[in-house]
Amino acid sequence: MDGNGRWATAKGLPRTDGHEAGARALLRAIDVADQLDIEYTTFYAFSTDNQKRDNQEVGNILGIIAYFLQNYVSKTVVERGYRVRFIGEMRLLPEQLLDIINNINKNALNNKGKTLIFAIGYGGDAELAAAVNKIIKNRHRRLDDTPVTAEELKSQLYTINIPDPDVVLRYGGYKRLSNFMPLQTAYSELFFTHKLWPDFDKEDIIAVIKEYEGIKRNFGGINA
Ligand code: FPP
Repeated sequence: MDGNGRWATAKGLPRTDGHEAGARALLRAIDVADQLDIEYTTFYAFSTDNQKRDNQEVGNILGIIAYFLQNYVSKTVVERGYRVRFIGEMRLLPEQLLDIINNINKNALNNKGKTLIFAIGYGGDAELAAAVNKIIKNRHRRLDDTPVTAEELKSQLYTINIPDPDVVLRYGGYKRLSNFMPLQTAYSELFFTHKLWPDFDKEDIIAVIKEYEGIKRNFGGINA
């Protein structure tokens, strides 16, 4: 969800207004994913690398995330019966935000609907390191020195039981994934738009799905 800052600056507004507009765009995107029957939707909201921004910007972003989760997302999750996953380094997040996340998780425990995934405090490199550390610990305990398989590595990622993304769409003009699910996106179809995230609208997704449906995916095999 890139481009919040530039969206605000272009309008002569403080960056925070861009993040707020970005959070409103996220609410629209949740509705669009529902209308288009998208089963799994991930929002990359805050990365471990975003943590390097100055304290005020980090505080503003996390404050806006907390506000929108508590006042909007939590209700929608209950009303529509969404399954919810928060992925990332939870220890990096402020306690108030963690309380809100725990509450949403608790209310969604028995839900059986579509899945919303929020990557907050997420970094693909940290996710891989955490997976490797879990495997080492298990191996060590069992005095096990058998080779680690790719399946085992993937089974220790935060995204366990979530299918790899079919599509990744990045807003804001840059053609990079910025530490987003490095393993899981190996065969994702990548889309990039110059639009800034706060300008998100349904037509963006409809256009991406149209193009996606025309792509032959072979996952390394031979196209029929
Ligand atoms: C990147 O734009 C955006 C962020 C780092 C924050 C994104 C957060 C939201 C949209 C709120 C999400 C809300 C919930 C409830 C999860 P940027 O600041 O890097 O933009 P720039 O490249 O134009 O400076």
